[in-house]
Amino acid sequence: MVGKDKIEWAQEWMPVLKVISKEFSKSKPFRNIKISMALHLEAKTAALAIALKQGGAKVRIAGCNPLSTDDEVAVSLKSDFGVDVFAHRGLSKEEYYEYLNKVLEHEPDLIIDDGGDLTALAHSRPEFSKHIIGGNEETTTGVVRLKNMERAGKLKFPMFDVNDALMKHLFDNRYGTGQSTLDGIMNATNLVIAGKNVVVAGYGWCGRGIALRMKGMGAKVSVTEIDPFKAIEAHMDGFNVGPMEEVIKSADFVVTATGMKDVVTLKTLRNAKNGVILANAGHFNNEIAVEEVERKFKGKSVRGNVKRYEIEKKKIYILSDGRLVNLASGQGHPVEIMDLSFSIQALTAEYIVKSPPKQNKVFPVPETVDGKVASICLKSYGIGIDTLTKDQVDYMNSWEEGT
Ligand code: ADE
Repeated sequence: MVGKDKIEWAQEWMPVLKVISKEFSKSKPFRNIKISMALHLEAKTAALAIALKQGGAKVRIAGCNPLSTDDEVAVSLKSDFGVDVFAHRGLSKEEYYEYLNKVLEHEPDLIIDDGGDLTALAHSRPEFSKHIIGGNEETTTGVVRLKNMERAGKLKFPMFDVNDALMKHLFDNRYGTGQSTLDGIMNATNLVIAGKNVVVAGYGWCGRGIALRMKGMGAKVSVTEIDPFKAIEAHMDGFNVGPMEEVIKSADFVVTATGMKDVVTLKTLRNAKNGVILANAGHFNNEIAVEEVERKFKGKSVRGNVKRYEIEKKKIYILSDGRLVNLASGQGHPVEIMDLSFSIQALTAEYIVKSPPKQNKVFPVPETVDGKVASICLKSYGIGIDTLTKDQVDYMNSWEEGT
């Protein structure tokens, strides 16, 4: 399949973005607006870039991870759709930053980021960021970085937290990561999940989704947590809960989804079962001690995206060098899921242009944006819901009578 076919397939299954694109084509909210983006560049992302371009924007895009670009899509986005693309799969660190710089040299009015690298770069290169009126951040890790910048008084333009919009994290983080992580692991290994012991590190929305889908495929799932509330939730959801040092002893697969570094260290790996397979579903490749393991034990590539290490006579396998397994070994989240996330991105970008915030803060996505995506989504799925009667609304707003 060529890049254009992949993009058109994605567009066909993105009904919400389709409605928004049509509106954008007419209203041109981004006329004279330059948008710089750093996102995982694959077919669904291309659909977002095209929608913004249809809205009148001049768009430049780079990848936000060295291994997540789909080269066919990148080529087509440039040649068939006229978007300025700076990305290819398998970037060195230098190339990765060279491309981010190219995107920023556009001197954007708006930025759209996934993970926070473009935002951080914009702050270190004020000569190219002086026109920025605001931006959006896609993911949990990026929002944590933004809030740290805000707390330190370093944030130089307003940013919107797309991750915490309901129509984003309830579906993308849970069902998107749940399905695409399994897709990546199965694609890389071609092994059965049923009957396996699977450890999921982290029980945030992503971890919940992975644990749920692993259980659905017949795995025996253990969860590790540092948060007592989430640990109890995982326990009551029916999962075994324990410290990594313990549960890794019987694990066939370990999947990290914490957003924290050093979740699986070399020390932890000394407890691991022979043949354990490690995969990361968090944004950065620092959840598993890949660099240290590679430096000390020199991995051997045994299959596309699978490296084997011999550590004290034990075989340890690491998928896609510890990078986001769902994108590096899979196809990213399902199309209908990214339809919702990218519709939130598109409408939040429009909101910034129409009502640019005055303060340099991290803002939640406006409820009107979340609500609009939900209502177009329901309509496109053909799902009807009930509405409250006036009597019920009055009841909800009253306090006098309990019975
Ligand atoms: N495709 C594009 N962006 C993605 C993301 N953040 N997660 C999973 N799949 C994606």
